[in-house]
Amino acid sequence: MTSITPTGKRIWWNEPIEKGELIWIGIIVIWGIVLTVMMPAWHLYGEQNLSTETYRTTPAMYQEKTQKMVDQYTIRTEGTRQFPVVAPPVGSDVYLIARLWDWWPILELKEGQTYRLHLNSMDWNHGFSLQPVNLNIQVLPGYEHVINVTPNKTGEYSIICNEYCGIGHHNMVGKIHVIK
Ligand code: CUA
Repeated sequence: MTSITPTGKRIWWNEPIEKGELIWIGIIVIWGIVLTVMMPAWHLYGEQNLSTETYRTTPAMYQEKTQKMVDQYTIRTEGTRQFPVVAPPVGSDVYLIARLWDWWPILELKEGQTYRLHLNSMDWNHGFSLQPVNLNIQVLPGYEHVINVTPNKTGEYSIICNEYCGIGHHNMVGKIHVIK
C-alpha cells in the first residue's frame, strides 16, 4: 500500500533497504567492475577493440584521396561490375570507401606487411566486418578511421556490412586479397 498512499513525511533515503535489493545492487556493482576491466583486457589480450585514429573528413576530400590511389596502383579489374583491384605499395596509406551499397575498390595486400588502412563512408553508417577473421569497425560519414593492419595469412577476405543501411544492405560485400 505504501506506493499508492501519500508518502507524507517519509524520506526515501532513510527507508531500510530490503536484502534482495542489496544483493542485486552488489551484483550490479561487481559486474560493472568486471565489464570495465574487460574493455582494456579485450584490447590487450583478446586482440579485439582495435586502436584506431580518427580524423574529420568530407566525402569530396576522401573520394579524391581514394581515386588518386586507384589511378596509381590499379593492376586489374574484377567481377561483373569491373571493380579495380588495387595493389598499393607496402607500408602505404590504403583507402577504402563504404557507400550504398558497396566497398570500393578491391584491395590486394601482401602477407606479413603493414599498411595504414583508411575507412570512411560517403553516406550513411556502415559496418566494416572482415570475414573470416571477425574484425569489426563502425564506418561513419564525416570521419576517417585509420587502422594499422598486417595481414598474417594469405587468402581472399570478405568485407560484410554489418550495420543495416537500407534495401541493398545484404549485397554490400567487398573483397581484400592477401597474397605472398
Ligand atoms: Cu552498408 Cu549495411
